[in-house]
Amino acid sequence: MLSPESAATVRATLPVIGGALEDITGRFYGSMFTDHPELLRDLFNRGNQANGEQRGALAGSIAAFATLLVERPDDRPDAMLARIANKHASLGVTAEQYEVVHKYLFAAIAEVLGDAVTPEVARAWDEVYWLMANALIALEADLRRDSGESWLRATVVERRRQTADAVSFTLRPPIPLSFRPGQYVSVAVTLPDGARQIRQYSLSCAPSHGDWRITVKRVRGGDTPDGEVSNWLHENVQAGDVLTISAPFGDLVLPEGDTPLLLASAGIGGTPILSMVEHLAATGSTRRVTVVHADRAPDDHAHREELERLVADLPGATLHLWYEQAGGCSCRPEPNIGQVDLADVELPDGLSAYLCGPLPFMRAVRSELLRRGVPASDIHYEVFGPDLWLGQD
Ligand SMILES: Cc1cc2nc3c(=O)[nH]c(=O)nc-3n(C[C@H](O)[C@H](O)[C@H](O)COP(=O)(O)OP(=O)(O)OC[C@H]3O[C@@H](n4cnc5c(N)ncnc54)[C@H](O)[C@@H]3O)c2cc1C
Ligand code: HEM
Repeated sequence: MLSPESAATVRATLPVIGGALEDITGRFYGSMFTDHPELLRDLFNRGNQANGEQRGALAGSIAAFATLLVERPDDRPDAMLARIANKHASLGVTAEQYEVVHKYLFAAIAEVLGDAVTPEVARAWDEVYWLMANALIALEADLRRDSGESWLRATVVERRRQTADAVSFTLRPPIPLSFRPGQYVSVAVTLPDGARQIRQYSLSCAPSHGDWRITVKRVRGGDTPDGEVSNWLHENVQAGDVLTISAPFGDLVLPEGDTPLLLASAGIGGTPILSMVEHLAATGSTRRVTVVHADRAPDDHAHREELERLVADLPGATLHLWYEQAGGCSCRPEPNIGQVDLADVELPDGLSAYLCGPLPFMRAVRSELLRRGVPASDIHYEVFGPDLWLGQD
């Protein structure tokens, strides 16, 4: 909770700080990476820095946190904090690095806003930063304690082509570690120029296997460079190799109990959903589950037959498929052609929805669910990139 003096100052300065966020963010990352090039090379995603995608996430979430502190001081944005803490824990962010971020962020704020940053304003925003940072540091320490910490060396026991662009790697962790369906691991690779780049990949199988599996879609460039890590994994990793990965993290997980579920994915976003569906099948679940998947074409749908088989094994589950082009498909059930449209899909009362896919897909599904009376708090999602939806509900 903010002190009353700081709350008043933060409320009064939110519009000016919010309005200058882009400028503040640019300067913050610019000077931090000039002084600490290792952070850009070995920790942050340099592709996201180059295309600007990640840049707004950090400062934007602090502004969202500040807004909540002054508007609804009794609420704690647990969901937002958990999402960030899981990502940080999987990346190995340390408590000491919060001092580094603080230094460059506050220098950028002072530079952009000049005289407007009186000692009183600086103090109030400092309080916001450390309230958030300390909450994250505590959550990250808990997560790391639960997972047994640090990077693991996992052996690739199988590499399998799933579609023209997607390959799965079955990984044997060095120690038995469980995960919850829907979680991901970070994979750290050393690229030819010596940079260590880290990306997240959802576990695409049920925990009961013991071995883990990730399914990686290669990101093809076009006007922009090819994705660095996905292409590197496709081109370099074979059975018998060892990969450096984190323990499993992530807050979008299959809820226990018997609440009806809507599991909706598009494209490579099917990976965490597949883990959930396989877990339900492995545990003989009779829950009502509506599984929805959309893809460009059946041949582009990684693990299509596996998903069809698993849903067929679940007595309470139905599958609905949408393909933009569905020529010559032996899919079961018969797919719909075109973009996903849930208007004719029967939805049970009281469902919890789990969405994963590109933002336009998730927006369309979410809007339809809200229109049909599903409360926003029952709609959960995973973004395969910087989560710029954080704090927007
Ligand atoms: C929780 C989570 C789970 C995920 N699960 C999966 C999964 O199961 N399977 C999967 O395949 N992916 C998954 N992802 C996505 C994955 O982490 C990577 O983001 C993805 O593989 C792309 O990484 P990359 O290194 O290949 O591309 P990057 O190098 O990160 O490139 C990303 C984009 O930036 C563009 N870019 C790069 N440099 C520039 C530049 N200089 N100028 C302009 N644009 C540029 C690239 O063209 C590309 O479009 C997940 C992500 C998250 C956060
Ligand atoms: C209060 C301080 C901080 C806040 C509010 C914050 C916020 C965020 C947010 C919102 C994201 C995106 C999460 C997602 O996409 O799901 C993120 C990602 C990330 N954060 Fe933080 N963060 C903070 C401190 C730090 C520190 C100290 C470091 C380490 C120097 C760090 C490193 C990262 C990295 C590497 C990512 C992933 C981005 C990428 O690879 O592109 N953050 N953070």
